[in-house]
Amino acid sequence: MSLSQRISQRILSGGPISLAEFMEAALGDPEFGYYMTKEPFGVGGDFITAPEISQIFGELIGLWCAALWLQLDSPSSFHLVELGPGRGTLMADALRATKTVPGFQQSVHVHLVEMSPKLQQVQQKTLGSSGHTIKWHRHIEDVPHGVTIVIANEFFDALPIRQFIQTEAGWCERLVSVNSDQQFEFSISPHATEETEIPAQLVDAPPGSLVEVCEAAEAITKTLSHRIQTNGGAALIIDYGYLKPAIGETLQAVSDHRFTDVLKNPGKQDLTAHVNFSSLADAARQQGAEVFAPLTQEQFLYGMGLKSRLARLTNTTTPAQTHDIKTAATRLTAADQMGTLFKVMVIGVKNSTPPAPFA
Ligand SMILES: C[S@@+](CC[C@H](N)C(=O)[O-])C[C@H]1O[C@@H](n2cnc3c(N)ncnc32)[C@H](O)[C@@H]1O
Repeated sequence: MSLSQRISQRILSGGPISLAEFMEAALGDPEFGYYMTKEPFGVGGDFITAPEISQIFGELIGLWCAALWLQLDSPSSFHLVELGPGRGTLMADALRATKTVPGFQQSVHVHLVEMSPKLQQVQQKTLGSSGHTIKWHRHIEDVPHGVTIVIANEFFDALPIRQFIQTEAGWCERLVSVNSDQQFEFSISPHATEETEIPAQLVDAPPGSLVEVCEAAEAITKTLSHRIQTNGGAALIIDYGYLKPAIGETLQAVSDHRFTDVLKNPGKQDLTAHVNFSSLADAARQQGAEVFAPLTQEQFLYGMGLKSRLARLTNTTTPAQTHDIKTAATRLTAADQMGTLFKVMVIGVKNSTPPAPFA
């Protein structure tokens, strides 16, 4: 039975499911889920992420981790945790870049939180020569306690969301049903949702308004914020998203670098939604942690020394290589590419000194 058939049967026997349930199955079904079966990154895959575009991205994140570690008085043992590490490229570049920082390599314990056994194998291969003993976990809760530095690039956008629509009867959940042609289609819950489910600023939005809520992102942010507040450390979150609660749909499906129908071919295409950074910030503050206001990816990368790294890297390269390296850097930073859509937020210990380049 295919994943589509399995989800259809579930809907036909139990009634329409939430979009979050549909996404959970499409991305994480142990047998057919997108991340369980595919290695989607790069030109030959479905999409490309920043660490796969340029090594500078992971290197500057490595330097960010090292600068934070120095700011924390160089603890002799700490956990460096990456959420959703993809191919492991970011971590490999980050670890390589920190080799120049005395003591860092001896103090770091590397942990990867990854749900896909297939991608764990890819990460193992990428990081096999890093010289570090890597530990894999299914959830952040499984990482041992101690000073913790968390990095998460394009992790939160991959978490399942729910959608609600303002109707004459109040806010109702958007559900996934099966039509008479056995195709998935959207429907609306017949019962209104508790208003507490809707971001308070948007409760009075006009009829027809659509709101997205990512409970998984809020729960994970609470867990990691609590850990940071009690154990020390910080979390660096990078993703495409928006800064204030907003009306409108951002759910998207991507296959072979093209947008596709979100309800078609579950398990065969990527599904993501833009990240609501204000809800992550609220979740962190509820745990007593400090939030350092989001910068754009462009501000963050230049603030971390992109210009000097670029100059150094192109010192000895051929004109063609220099062109490629500079084009990749532009892709990460240009306003019409990834530079402003992507935001960078840090969660730290209450009243701690802002980390670079947030000061
Ligand atoms: C879009 S990819 C980002 C990959 C990588 N960070 C990068 O920048 O190339 C999302 C990653 O998160 C993982 N992932 C998605 N949902 C997860 C979850 N709930 N728990 C753990 N890992 C998850 C995926 O398997 C994948 O490795």
